[in-house]
Amino acid sequence: MTRRIRKVVFPVAGLGTRFLPATKTVPKEMLPIVDRPLIQYAVDEAVEAGCDTMVFVTNRYKHAVADYFDKAYELEEKLEAAGKGELLEVVRNVLPKGVRAVFVTQAEALGLGHAVLCAKPVVGDEPFAVILPDDLIWNRGPGALSQMADVAEATGASVIATQAVPAAQVSSYGIVATETFSERRGRITAIVEKPRPADAPSNLAVVGRYVLSPRIFDLLESTRPGAGGEIQLTDAISALLAEEAVLAYHFQGTRFDCGTHIGLIEATIRHALDHEKLSEAAQGFMREALAELGVVDS
Ligand code: UTP
Repeated sequence: MTRRIRKVVFPVAGLGTRFLPATKTVPKEMLPIVDRPLIQYAVDEAVEAGCDTMVFVTNRYKHAVADYFDKAYELEEKLEAAGKGELLEVVRNVLPKGVRAVFVTQAEALGLGHAVLCAKPVVGDEPFAVILPDDLIWNRGPGALSQMADVAEATGASVIATQAVPAAQVSSYGIVATETFSERRGRITAIVEKPRPADAPSNLAVVGRYVLSPRIFDLLESTRPGAGGEIQLTDAISALLAEEAVLAYHFQGTRFDCGTHIGLIEATIRHALDHEKLSEAAQGFMREALAELGVVDS
């Protein structure tokens, strides 16, 4: 694998049950951090990594994701007539020029592995990326996917983002065992989905960024339902380990698990504190709120 990745798969066909009732009508990926939906942060990261084809694996209820990336003629006309040029650019650039969006339907939510397999006809026989938009990774320098694409290009290996998690949380993640790390990466020797803490090979968890060899599609085709009765990407990666090099990669940046309530709140606070126009007000509000609670002195 020495080609630079061009295609990114966004599996967004999950039910998002942890955010019910909001996710009855608003897909989880459309929840905003300040003024941009999670899916926009994910697309921006992919574009920054050099990708030009965004493959969204959706379900029949998630029109909002397709609508979001579609051209909004009436809105654009109104913004233009009102002289709101800056907003017009924001709206037009949700998908920059030269970047295309392709939508694939996952008829049934059979698991993340199955969702990735649905993208096979679009991706074809080339290395590609997978981004889970609810894992938001914030970095001042190059984005996480850009860092990983560089490693994949230089080594020819598949690359998976990992992060150490507290031992009590290993059963919520795919967990890897690796050879010794050097230059932020280590070859994966084993991977297991949602192990019991006693069975976990380490506390190194897989987070939502992957650069994968196209061989994964063949392996997914023969992957049977695993943890939670779902077709797990982790199980296909486990089979891939026997054939090709797969590296765990410690990305530079802060990850927010926006698939959980507290992660979404953390990401919102962090982005507000870093926001050019909102930072001061956000700091003031937080000081007041914490003083009211008696957590800090007023
Ligand atoms: P999650 O495990 O976070 O599930 O899926 P979920 O349905 O999104 O959310 P909860 O747990 O019910 O709150 C991880 C990723 O895999 C996608 C999800 O959209 C999410 O990006 N996924 C999962 C699919 O696209 N299809 C599936 O069948 C399952």
